[in-house]
Amino acid sequence: MTVDTYATRIQLTCAELSMDSHCVGESDGLTFCLARPEDYDDVMAISQDIYGGNDYLPHRYHSWITEPGRVVIIARRDRKLVALESGLLVDGGETVIVEGLRVCPNERGCGLAGVIQRFVDGYIKRVYPNAKTKRLTRGDDPGPEKLSKFTLLARRAILSLWGDSEGFDSFVSGLKEKLLVSDESNSSSPLVPVKDLDALKTLLLDSDLSSRLQLPGGAIIQDWQPLKLMESNLHILARRNLTWFVDGSGGKPLFMSFHTPPYPIPFNGGSLRFNIDLYGTDTSLAKKALTAHLNSVRSEIQGLVLVHIYMHQTLWEDLKQFCEGHETVKQFRDYWEQLFLEREP
Ligand SMILES: CC(C)(COP(=O)(O)OP(=O)(O)OC[C@H]1O[C@@H](n2cnc3c(N)ncnc32)[C@H](O)[C@@H]1OP(=O)(O)O)[C@@H](O)C(=O)NCCC(=O)NCCS
Repeated sequence: MTVDTYATRIQLTCAELSMDSHCVGESDGLTFCLARPEDYDDVMAISQDIYGGNDYLPHRYHSWITEPGRVVIIARRDRKLVALESGLLVDGGETVIVEGLRVCPNERGCGLAGVIQRFVDGYIKRVYPNAKTKRLTRGDDPGPEKLSKFTLLARRAILSLWGDSEGFDSFVSGLKEKLLVSDESNSSSPLVPVKDLDALKTLLLDSDLSSRLQLPGGAIIQDWQPLKLMESNLHILARRNLTWFVDGSGGKPLFMSFHTPPYPIPFNGGSLRFNIDLYGTDTSLAKKALTAHLNSVRSEIQGLVLVHIYMHQTLWEDLKQFCEGHETVKQFRDYWEQLFLEREP
């Protein structure tokens, strides 16, 4: 053996050893490992066209693999990465939110999603024995047979818009004018920002907030992550750099909303995704909140932006009409829903 070959062999052995140290199990001809930074390209290779270009994982991957309370598990067959799923421990450790599920295109339809989900469920049981509930959200409705395996906690309506940065600016100005003309800016209470953790705590831990705002399944869903109104979840929310508004009618607000900072997605070769979550059923306040969120990111929007607004189903038609009539920012897709599901892991 030459010195070069020997050196290469040692490197390979080290690589194999380091891979093994991240591996957490094997089954069905697959090796399951905790995802590492160097798996990024392999994960992206199985993620082409996911969610029609709206995939968050290219942007979130590196923060996911270091996030406290989160596991990201990849499955390899003969070293080829074939699937990924992640679980985030929330609600003081009693719930795991599963996210990010994906299978490589040429292995779809053969039950692989079921295999990795079962593995992740088992792994979470071992590592976090207190997690008694599994929660997830999804944007497609798999029909009654598949849904019967879950408790359907809520359905939220989604309004999706798209436009470019120039159009976005005039769109927001247009919405502001509409509010003024309709006198809706005066007819309901003003919106106020919620800036610090103490104010957020007072707001979210109010025992009748859930019924007042008709929260989905008694939770808030932050950019597809359902969280119960519990103090331990405040730390998770604080990490997300959210912008909050609440109606300023006094101690018992009837409306609350937040947005996640716009983030890059693969759509159309590179776009921004902007998610706004609205809670409450008052149309006037919903229009004001939507306008306030869009206005507050005006200077951050570059290039093409896809805006997804999640809300109580009764608001969708009014908000759709409110956003109509602008050439520059248009509806991106028809009515669709976010399903909030629960089952035992
Ligand atoms: C959705 C996807 C992961 C399904 O993978 P698959 O291996 O082809 O899945 P199968 O049709 O063979 O179904 C296998 C199992 O996964 C489940 N499953 C399929 N799609 C699912 C989804 N979107 N969310 C949760 N479970 C899902 C099925 O119910 C089935 O469960 P069971 O074994 O308990 O009956 C795959 O098509 C994919 O990667 N799509 C692109 C990414 C995506 O849309 N992910 C959805 C995240 S919500």
